[in-house]
Amino acid sequence: MHHSKYTLLASLGMLTLHSCKSEPEASSSSEGGYPAEQVAEALYQVLKSDRKVYAQKIVNRLVNKEGVIKAHEEWASEKALLLPAQFFREGAEEVDSIEGKAIDFTYSLQSKWPLNMENAKKKTPKVEEGLAAVSDPENPLYGEKWTGEEEIGGKKFFVGIYPDRAVAPACWECHNDHENRQPEYPEFKKNDVMGGIVIRIPMN
Ligand code: HEC
Repeated sequence: MHHSKYTLLASLGMLTLHSCKSEPEASSSSEGGYPAEQVAEALYQVLKSDRKVYAQKIVNRLVNKEGVIKAHEEWASEKALLLPAQFFREGAEEVDSIEGKAIDFTYSLQSKWPLNMENAKKKTPKVEEGLAAVSDPENPLYGEKWTGEEEIGGKKFFVGIYPDRAVAPACWECHNDHENRQPEYPEFKKNDVMGGIVIRIPMN
């Protein structure tokens, strides 16, 4: 096995993590490795940026501004763009299919107010807790990250939940008008937190 993989995993294992907002500790990183929280944060920055580019420069431009194509669940059969959530999930599935990753991370898009009930089913109690924190305007963590850990199938994971914001009119126009919205659904507007990006990193 690769040496740098060992030092990285070793440093992940030595972490002390808290179920609240916390700054990464300089002392928890070691030669050749970064703490789980920093790895998750870096992944979030990439995912968030790609998501913003797809929403603003592709969907919002072509669907909402220029009206040349629609974005629709049935994109494969309807000559439509993938919904931003589908685009995101396709990426996550690609990552899942990579074998021998140095860090076996996974990620998904979730919300307290899911339009897709399949998304709702995937929530663990920790994810419920984190989503509630980052997407409740009354909570001090609103719009910030939530971090914690959970055990799944006897294995420990670092979990980071990061705000997913309404970065383009396409976001709230589509969600606010969607037929799947439940009675308690918020009226989203620019920059509101609509859900969370959930990133899981194994700790050993
Ligand atoms: C054209 C319609 C449309 C647009 C544009 C759109 N969404 Fe969605 N969004 C959906 C639908 C439908 C789902 C459920 C799709 C799925 O999971 O397959 C969804 C899923 C989500 C989810 C996961 C939870 C859920 O509702 O199931 C979040 C969070 C989310 N969208 C936020 C956003 C944000 C933020 C934007 C802008 C960057 C955006 N959406 C743009 C329709 C849209």
